[in-house]
Amino acid sequence: MLLAKLYTGKSEFIALNNGLHGRTALTMSVTGIGMWRADFAPYGGAHFVPNPYCYRCPFKSTPENCDFACIEAVENTIKNHTSKKVAAMIAESIQGNGGIITPPKEYFKVLKKVLNKYEIPLIIDEVQTGFARTGKMFAIEHYEIVPEVITMAKALGNGVPIAAYITNDEMAEAFKNPSASTLGGNPVSSTAGLAVLEYIEKHNLTKRAAVLGDRLKKGLMELKGKHSIIGEVRGIGLMLGAELVKEGKNPAVEETDLIIEMMKDKGILIGKNGEYRNVLAFQPPLIITEDDVDFMLDTLDDVLKVFRGN
Ligand SMILES: Cc1ncc(COP(=O)(O)O)c(C=O)c1O
Repeated sequence: MLLAKLYTGKSEFIALNNGLHGRTALTMSVTGIGMWRADFAPYGGAHFVPNPYCYRCPFKSTPENCDFACIEAVENTIKNHTSKKVAAMIAESIQGNGGIITPPKEYFKVLKKVLNKYEIPLIIDEVQTGFARTGKMFAIEHYEIVPEVITMAKALGNGVPIAAYITNDEMAEAFKNPSASTLGGNPVSSTAGLAVLEYIEKHNLTKRAAVLGDRLKKGLMELKGKHSIIGEVRGIGLMLGAELVKEGKNPAVEETDLIIEMMKDKGILIGKNGEYRNVLAFQPPLIITEDDVDFMLDTLDDVLKVFRGN
């Protein structure tokens, strides 16, 4: 975000509702999830726009009749609601904490056209999606665009603390001041990061994530057919979500908590996220086996039987 400011000489940001970009004061200010905004005095100049949450489309469209009203809203915000000093738009390629919100295939192409028109760089946050999880090194590759900046962390160190960003030469040139940080370039973290990348490539974990992700998604879709509590299954590769609902798509909040506890008692930890905290998040280690996937699916099938009729 600092780089975007230095490059453009502008200072505002556009961010998506339900996005999460971190727990520092600045990244919190562009985070669109209330529970992760502890700072009571956020930085100004952040404009939030509707996210591509097709299951609960704010414009009541369906993927079949969608004209990307959510991207029109971005253009409307740029034109009418900013001070025309937008340094960048920031977005996750797939929103993790927001509920594994997976944009339609053409979303980022259409969005990028609008941003290009106003010369606004796009920062793609791959902290959750990055490094092979979705069957490609970065999830944004599925959307066939090249953002100006990509941020990355979590999977890069496989548990060892390390974060990084990449950008193009032109933007990198804008950072002229000296820059250093106490822990930046730490040799142990850097060595771990390089080892992780080598391991991912050597063991072709991108392919593994794609194959096992397909198996998991197919299984979850089957469960959706059997259990009406699963309203939607979404995601790519080994980054999948199942949104749990009651009648009329009402979020099944208590049921989600109960299911997570019941799964835990059977030895399986499942994540929880989403605007309503009713999305089961499946983001297992990339070295998970076919047997692990099948065991999880069978166990979940058993647990969900309790909720039949919901
Ligand atoms: C998409 C995304 N971006 C960034 C972060 C980094 O957050 P933090 O700065 O708290 O480590 C996270 C952490 O959960 C995340 O999920």
